[in-house]
Amino acid sequence: MKILDACCGSKMFWFDKENVNTVYMDNRTVDTTLCDGRRLIVRPDIIEDFRKMPFENETFYLVIFDPPHLVNAGDTSFLSLKYGTLKNTWQEDIRQGLAECWRVLKTNGTMIFKWNEQQVSFSMVKKLFPCEPLIGQRRGKTIWLVFFKN
Ligand SMILES: C[S@@+](CC[C@H](N)C(=O)[O-])C[C@H]1O[C@@H](n2cnc3c(N)ncnc32)[C@H](O)[C@@H]1O
Repeated sequence: MKILDACCGSKMFWFDKENVNTVYMDNRTVDTTLCDGRRLIVRPDIIEDFRKMPFENETFYLVIFDPPHLVNAGDTSFLSLKYGTLKNTWQEDIRQGLAECWRVLKTNGTMIFKWNEQQVSFSMVKKLFPCEPLIGQRRGKTIWLVFFKN
């Protein structure tokens, strides 16, 4: 496999939700109906923890990391079901997740990171990066960044 989505959730941003080059990972499976009546399915290829991934160093050409970004959300709330929540250890968890994404990324590979500033500011998360991002874009509270492993 060439691509890793390290916490795929319901794969909302994927055009092809069964991309043959991709390992879809998450730490849960879900099949439920949300309060708005829509069905939420989280069905990763593998259930693993992004803080300790079961891959060799330098495995993937592209790693996508879109971790939970909410610290406060009720356990059964719409947002929590859809995006998961951060624990009070979130800084260490995200730091480890980024470090693992970086470890399993090949040299000359690309990492894409997404963050939403709804509850935690970008300046707090920036401190956890393995290196400086190449480019990025902000749209409202959502920030997309691209890293390149030299
Ligand atoms: C923001 S959502 C991802 C949304 C996804 N990109 C999409 O397009 O639908 C974050 C996901 O991270 C997962 N997650 C939380 N902690 C994790 C961990 N330690 N290891 C792997 N996945 C985790 C959650 O279950 C949740 O599905």
